[in-house]
Amino acid sequence: MTAAGTSLSGAPVSSLSALLHALPAAVIVLDADGCVLFWSRGAEDLLGWTEEETVGRQAPFIERGIDHLREARGRALEGEHQRMDTVLADKTGRRVDVDVVLAPCPAGEEGRGVALIATDAAERRQAQRDLRRALDRLEEGEAERRQLLARLVGAHERERRLLAADIHDYLLQELTGLALRLEHASLRAPSLPPSALAEELKAAAAAARDAVRRLRDVLLGLWQETLEREGLVVAVAALVERMRERCGARFLLHHRLQAEPDPHTRLLAYRILQEALTNAANHARAAVVEVSLTSAGKGGLAGRVADDGRGFVAADAARPGHLGLAAMRERAEAGGGWVDIRSRPGAGTVVEFFLPGRSAVSPTEPSR
Ligand SMILES: Nc1ncnc2c1ncn2[C@@H]1O[C@H](COP(=O)(O)OP(=O)(O)OP(=O)(O)O)[C@@H](O)[C@H]1O
Ligand SMILES: [Mg+2]
Repeated sequence: MTAAGTSLSGAPVSSLSALLHALPAAVIVLDADGCVLFWSRGAEDLLGWTEEETVGRQAPFIERGIDHLREARGRALEGEHQRMDTVLADKTGRRVDVDVVLAPCPAGEEGRGVALIATDAAERRQAQRDLRRALDRLEEGEAERRQLLARLVGAHERERRLLAADIHDYLLQELTGLALRLEHASLRAPSLPPSALAEELKAAAAAARDAVRRLRDVLLGLWQETLEREGLVVAVAALVERMRERCGARFLLHHRLQAEPDPHTRLLAYRILQEALTNAANHARAAVVEVSLTSAGKGGLAGRVADDGRGFVAADAARPGHLGLAAMRERAEAGGGWVDIRSRPGAGTVVEFFLPGRSAVSPTEPSR
């Protein structure tokens, strides 16, 4: 359509205008100078200005501050179709999210104009924003899940290592001893009287049975049963005994438990002590290792392992693949308590821990 009343396609202007007015979109036709030639009812609904207020006037009111829209209008005049998501200001200054299409059309005195069709995109953009937020939340959840999985895998890996350590502690020495005994017997067999050989073999069979029993204990976690059946002090005393055999240091165990801790706390305490004692036996080269266990608060437990060995620098201890100290901390924290590890080269190591216990009503935490 043109100001002169001829239609764009030969259709009567009145029916074409009626059609454009009926569209659920803002339809605006501008001439080459940006003067409004047509302003649909949809444009009034979307932007607030009426046909009377706009037709025959320059259109910068809708392009105010929107340079890219002005540039797009220029390109449309050159014959290019443009499509964009943008924000327009309506008559009251409110920002309106719109999808805009700009297309060249024959209009105005020069026969060159631009048709601008804008549709309200507020709902779609809101839906997009909601979708993005949901995706962000999903990504956060996924990251959390991955972290948990990594911790879980770490925990599995540690348990596997503890099992390997159990097999090492309980079993390998026995099997090595048994192999040596059999080797020795086979070397001496030609010169041994049959009764002495029988004695040797009987002792070897007993050692093999012992090794099998220990292996079963480890695999079935039966040492945990001992812990449950006989209590923490007996289990720790057996642990201390094994460490004594292993490294030849003097081990002293002091205990003042008023009550047996609950099973969860007892297992955590045992594992922490096992790590602290294994470290003392493996790394400290100590003369004396002192272990103490004391009830603390209602159902709580405080423990201490102190050696007079060579000590270490904390920064050097945190090496990849050395997880014992970190596992001790993790266990204590899993039980709601803490571990404090103090060491200096040449000045020994002290590991102290506190576990509040599950039955604790209001644990009185000992001062650290
Ligand atoms: N009581 C100790 N005396 C001397 N050095 C120690 C003692 N405890 C720990 N360390 C040092 O700290 C390091 C880290 O100990 P950590 O228990 O984390 O690992 P690890 O014992 O080497 O290996 P694992 O992961 O099997 O426990 C040890 O390698 C050792 O150098
Ligand atoms: Mg260790």
